[in-house]
Amino acid sequence: MLKDILSIKDFDRNLLESFIADVKNFEGPKVKFPTAHPGCGFTEANKPKILATLFFEPSTRTRLSFESAMIRLGGQCIGFSDPQNSSVQKGESIRDTIKTIEGYADCIVIRHHVEGTARLAASLTSLPVINAGDGSNSHISQHLLDLYTIQQKLDRLDNLKIGYIGDLKYGRTVRGLAYALSLLPNNRHYFVAPDPGLQIDEIGFLTPGSYEEHNDLSPELLSELDVLYVTRLQKERYPDPQEYNRIIRRYRITKETLLPTKKGFIVMHPLPRNTEIAEEVDELPSAAYFAQAHNGAIVRKCLLYNLITNQGLSY
Ligand code: NCD
Repeated sequence: MLKDILSIKDFDRNLLESFIADVKNFEGPKVKFPTAHPGCGFTEANKPKILATLFFEPSTRTRLSFESAMIRLGGQCIGFSDPQNSSVQKGESIRDTIKTIEGYADCIVIRHHVEGTARLAASLTSLPVINAGDGSNSHISQHLLDLYTIQQKLDRLDNLKIGYIGDLKYGRTVRGLAYALSLLPNNRHYFVAPDPGLQIDEIGFLTPGSYEEHNDLSPELLSELDVLYVTRLQKERYPDPQEYNRIIRRYRITKETLLPTKKGFIVMHPLPRNTEIAEEVDELPSAAYFAQAHNGAIVRKCLLYNLITNQGLSY
């Protein structure tokens, strides 16, 4: 039983496949938190389930899709998206913030720039905690929605050739997705870094023959891929702004770039995008990034439902 959803490394193949299969049950409007008996008034049974969203870093999709998911399940949300408006501004510690919120909610979603904050939060409370991003480390619900989107579009999570291009070092979406796909058979990974300093690191989990590192996206490589996963340069984590401006011009996916791709190919992006995918790509059937964003709410419904009604994830 997984009480907290903190890192993809807490998943094994069985849990991952069972979870992705379960998400399908949340596509429609039916699954809801158990509701109160009519007429029982303000009793324990009639207490709405409450989600606390604590966002110490900016977010659009992650926070709003968690909140939308909670409301669609019949629950309610509290929280902050700007820590300047919370007592953190007065110097309150994470420990005291979590200990306080524990009394107000049934589940906590937290995003923080310091790696390990979600795990720390989980160790301080008996409530389920979901990591919505901790620095460059983990963004587990993003990995799960990426997997769900691949399954939905390509009908499999194995035997894939997946290319990743962009900021592979400071971004937190690529390493975890590669880890998840490494749990499934015959997936091959192609890491394309537009600058050597942005090449992926900490991928000891991949077996030596299962990946390649490149410094550009050649038409030959592109023609082999089932998925191209594009990410933005992480300006806010980037040490030198001049370097940022130099590298940002080096990769941009346009309709023309995608001409060599094969049938069934999809292009993904966790969003937000800057200039790395031209808007003209949006109209191609291969553009899967808004499907990802929409699937985020469905995947998060499945997470919240399991965590709040079963006190954890287990199949
Ligand atoms: C990602 C993140 O926050 O890591 N955004 C998201 O949650 N969809 C990607 C990014 O910010 O580049």
